[in-house]
This record gives sequence, C-alpha cells and structure tokens, in this order.
Amino acid sequence: MNHVFLKAARKEAVPYTPVWYMRQAGRYQPEYRAIREKHSFFDISHQPELCARVTSLPVKQLGVDAAILFADIMTPLKARGLSVDIVEGVGPVIPDPVRSGSDLAKLGELVPERDVPYVLETVERLRKQLEVPLIGFAGAPFTLASYLIEGGPSKDYHRTKAFMYRRPDDWAAIMNHLAEMTVRYLKAQIDAGAAAIQVFDSWVGALSSEDYRTYIMPAMVGIFSALKETEAVTIYFAAGAAHLLHEWNELPVDVLSIDWRTSPAAVRGRGIAKVLQGNLDPALLLAPLPLLKERARRLLDETNGIPGFIFNLGHGVFPEVRPETLKALTDFIHDYSKTLREQV
Ligand code: CP3
Repeated sequence: MNHVFLKAARKEAVPYTPVWYMRQAGRYQPEYRAIREKHSFFDISHQPELCARVTSLPVKQLGVDAAILFADIMTPLKARGLSVDIVEGVGPVIPDPVRSGSDLAKLGELVPERDVPYVLETVERLRKQLEVPLIGFAGAPFTLASYLIEGGPSKDYHRTKAFMYRRPDDWAAIMNHLAEMTVRYLKAQIDAGAAAIQVFDSWVGALSSEDYRTYIMPAMVGIFSALKETEAVTIYFAAGAAHLLHEWNELPVDVLSIDWRTSPAAVRGRGIAKVLQGNLDPALLLAPLPLLKERARRLLDETNGIPGFIFNLGHGVFPEVRPETLKALTDFIHDYSKTLREQV
C-alpha cells in the first residue's frame, strides 16, 4: 500500500509530495462521459461495482496518491428521501427547499447501513482493490444547508443568511441535525475502510469570522471531535475562506485544504501550523504546460520546508481539462518533489 498521502497528513517524512485532485473522477475523462451516457449521476453511486470503477479510474490513469469516493455531498440527504437532481453545469437542485427546522427533521435520522448500503459496499470493495488510501467525504452543515434553503447554488446566500439571522433556534437545530447525520455517515465510511475523510464546506467563505464562530463553529467542533475517536485522517475544505483560518486552526481537524487566493507561506506566516493541502488554481490546468509547471514548481519550492503538505488544486478539476495535462502535472509533482528532497 502506498501510504505517502497518510504520512504527509500526519506530518511524517515522505519521499515525495503526495498529490490527488478534487473532482479527479468526472467529466474531463472520456471514460466517465461514456458511463454517464448510460447512467445518471445517482445511478452510478447506487451500483457499487460501477462506482468503485469510477472512483479508481483516475488512480490508475494519473498515478495519484489517494482515491476519493465517488458520490455527492447530497447523497445522504437524497437517501433520506429529499428530492434532489444533479443538473449539468449547475449542481444539486432541490425543487422543494427547506423553509423551517421541522422540514429537515421530517427527513429523520440517517442509519447508514439501512439508508446508504451501496456507499458502504463501494468503500468495502475499494478497500480491497486500491493500492492507495481511500478518502471518504461529506458536505459540511453550512454548505448542505445552503443548497437546502436556496434550492440550488447561489451567489450571495441571502436566503440562507436571512434564515440564520432571523431564526437562530431553527438554524441551530438544522446545524445539529446535519452535523449528526455527517458524523454517522463518515463513521460508517471509516468503518467500511476509508482511511481519511474530507469535509467539504465549499461555500462557508461567504460568512464573516464572527458569524462563522457564532453559527457554524459549534457544529464543526462536534463533527471533528466525534471523528477524533477514529483512526482516520480528517481534512476540511472551503473555497475563498482564508479569513476563517484562525477559526479553523482551533478545530480538532488534521489537515486544512486551502484555495489559491492565499499562499501556503502566507498561511504559515499567520501562525497556522496544521498540515496544509492545496492550492493550485484549477484554471492553470487550462494554461500552457510550461506556465502550469512553473506555478506547480513554485508551490513545491515554497512548501518544501513545510512538514506536512499535500498537493491538490484550490478547487475541483473543470470538465474542459485534458486528462494528459493532469497526468503530466502529477508526474511533475512526484519527480520534482523527489529532487527537492535529494538536495537536502
Ligand atoms: O472526484 C471527486 O472529487 C469525488 C466526487 C465528488 C463529486 N462531488 C462528484 C460530482 C465530490 C467530492 C463532490 C462534492 C461536491 N458536490 C461538492 C464539494 C466540492 C466542491 O466542488 O466544492 C459540491 C459543492 C457538490 C455539489 C455539486 N455536485 C456540484 C457543484 C456539481 C457540479 C455541477 C456541474 O455540472 O458542473 C455536482 C455534480 C457532480 N458531482 C459531478 C461530479 C463528477 C458532475 C456530475 C455529472 O456527471 O454531470
């Protein structure tokens, strides 16, 4: 088993910088597009054999150091009966948005073995098949609530924030419900064989530090404290959230996954000592190859002296990216980070 990713996540010495990519399984791959012609998004996740194949395809093709379970952040809510469609180019759309705390309570508790057996079977298969660790994942309460309340993606999250400010008790109940669901869902993935888990709070950067502390942080402390009881490495991701790094640094989480707007050196300069993951701008995958490599080289130079760095993008791979580009980037990261270590 290639444990370089797990070692880096635990700040142990590694022979090269491990790399994986958010959305490494997806529409940029011709094989994925061919499967999607025959199966809907949620169809794939309901078929463990197919879902495991889609999850492991980028590991074989790119040589990345970790796999990430193929599913969506809405998977556990859909499994509890929430009506949600994945619309191409848009994301999850909820025709009947949540308007009160009781709307969500109606969905009841997630019992993973009963509600998402296909996810657990996929994880079990992957544990046996993969030669790299599997990262399980879930959406974080704020990001899930934003889809539930807005009914889909949003630019400004006004409805979500209005709910949060006007009905703080209902909001707390929603955060609580979603945090409990997330803990059950992630613990079940870990029991089934996920060696690490990433919590996606993609849109929480829309909040100020003060609001994050008041309305979000208790749920995040609850989630990561509960996961401390497991052996799994924990990772927390958001885009556009560098202003929240001091709050994040207080969370009982192992790895912070940052986007391209802030450099890892600047994060270190602010006294954040946790392992970092990121943070190449995914738009650079559309740049000429020499520029892409130059930027990746600079990121590796910058992080070489930092124990505990995992190479990733600042957000997911776009459908327009050529698979050859990601393969060339992966090889470059492995080769160049090896030479950096040989120089020491
Ligand atoms: O490779 C991986 O990263 C694993 C699979 C994965 C998917 N979604 C597959 C997917 C993961 C980890 C996610 C998480 C997810 N889903 C997040 C958090 C990460 C992030 O991007 O911030 C969010 C916000 C969602 C919601 C969502 N689902 C969006 C924004 C989209 C994209 C819509 C589009 O068409 O561009 C989806 C759909 C989705 N999830 C796709 C994939 C491969 C594309 C679906 C398709 O085949 O049409």
